[in-house]
Amino acid sequence: MKIVEMSYKEKLKREIALFVGCAQDEVILTWKGRVSLYGILQALDLEEGDEIIIPAFTCVVVPNAILYHKLRPIYVDVDPLTLNIDIQKIENAITNKTKVILAQNTFGLSSDLDSIKEIAERHNLLVIEDCTHGFGGSYKNKLNGTNVDAAFFSSQWNKMFSTGIGGFAIVKNPALKNKLNDFEKKLKAPSVKDEVLLKLQLIAKETLGYKSLYWNALKFYRYLSKKNLVIGSSSGGEMDSIEMPEGYLKGLGNVQCKKGIQEVKRILENISYRKNIAAYYDKVLIDLGKGKTLVPENIEHTYTKYPIFVKDRDAFFKEAEEQKIPIHDWFISQIHPITENFHLWNLNPEKFPVSKKLAQHIVNLPTDFSVDNNLKNRIGKFLQTQKDQIIPYEEL
Ligand SMILES: Cc1ncc(COP(=O)(O)O)c(C=O)c1O
Repeated sequence: MKIVEMSYKEKLKREIALFVGCAQDEVILTWKGRVSLYGILQALDLEEGDEIIIPAFTCVVVPNAILYHKLRPIYVDVDPLTLNIDIQKIENAITNKTKVILAQNTFGLSSDLDSIKEIAERHNLLVIEDCTHGFGGSYKNKLNGTNVDAAFFSSQWNKMFSTGIGGFAIVKNPALKNKLNDFEKKLKAPSVKDEVLLKLQLIAKETLGYKSLYWNALKFYRYLSKKNLVIGSSSGGEMDSIEMPEGYLKGLGNVQCKKGIQEVKRILENISYRKNIAAYYDKVLIDLGKGKTLVPENIEHTYTKYPIFVKDRDAFFKEAEEQKIPIHDWFISQIHPITENFHLWNLNPEKFPVSKKLAQHIVNLPTDFSVDNNLKNRIGKFLQTQKDQIIPYEEL
């Protein structure tokens, strides 16, 4: 009997399916998470001008995937306590062209899915979950992405787990599932150059963590980036235009799949690590009288990042860099990282004052495996020295 070896793609699909408890053909692999979103929207067969409701606190690649299909992103402001879409404001944004509500797991915290699904049912809309920050988290004991028609995930550099860059979808809706399997088959394979660069970057990331060499490596990375010699999260075209850039529709390569297989196997350990680090930040912030992020009881937060809010972000970043404290900058804009020409993305920033304020003051602390005890304590001490900078959660 001839034994056919499973491909790396199939093996990764099997690991993901086993973890989330879905069928293997409900998992679709793509070069990035945004490509999965693009595929899901394509499978919906919508008409030009149809509207997709999204939170006004997201990454620009989300409205991009919508605009590439000539659909309209319609923004809804967010709740300052959860950083997720404000449920009370969704219905006002619904028109007879609305087709989808997108529920995001911002920084790993699920949106209030029951309320969103109830609104969607009443208006005959579909719900897509943006789980790019929330792989492994859950809402009312249901894993993120398994409780909606379709969901997409990211395994890009700083997400729950990293395959360099990468993404996948989980598609429970049977009609959509077949279309997405066809979509995946048509995606172009990454080039040899793509795979080699990714492999080198993965090795560099694993070796360096946030250790002393990391800071020199970061400068070198920025240099290479300018020379177009790294695989970054986004290409220039995605930041200044709403045209799909060349090479967007790619599949997941073997380098990414192999890494993904290892990472999915340790996702529970990964989440528990992040939760411990987050609990430490909670304590530091509570002791400083600043409160902590709100996590409703029925939600399992994955803490991809730990957001805090500061009065003067530039000064905070400068101080952090001097003290070699790794601080991140998600989402410094309502459609991160865009800072101008918002109209291209159909966004009037002034209409969404909550997300505007959040984007002005947010910084995020790392929670991943690279945060060892030493770094954790240094971050804690740093927060104490920056006490006057930190805005208490209840003042947001
Ligand atoms: C909220 C959100 N949605 C979607 C994405 C897209 O994920 P990817 O970079 O894998 O395309 C990102 C991150 O880049 C994100 O932060």
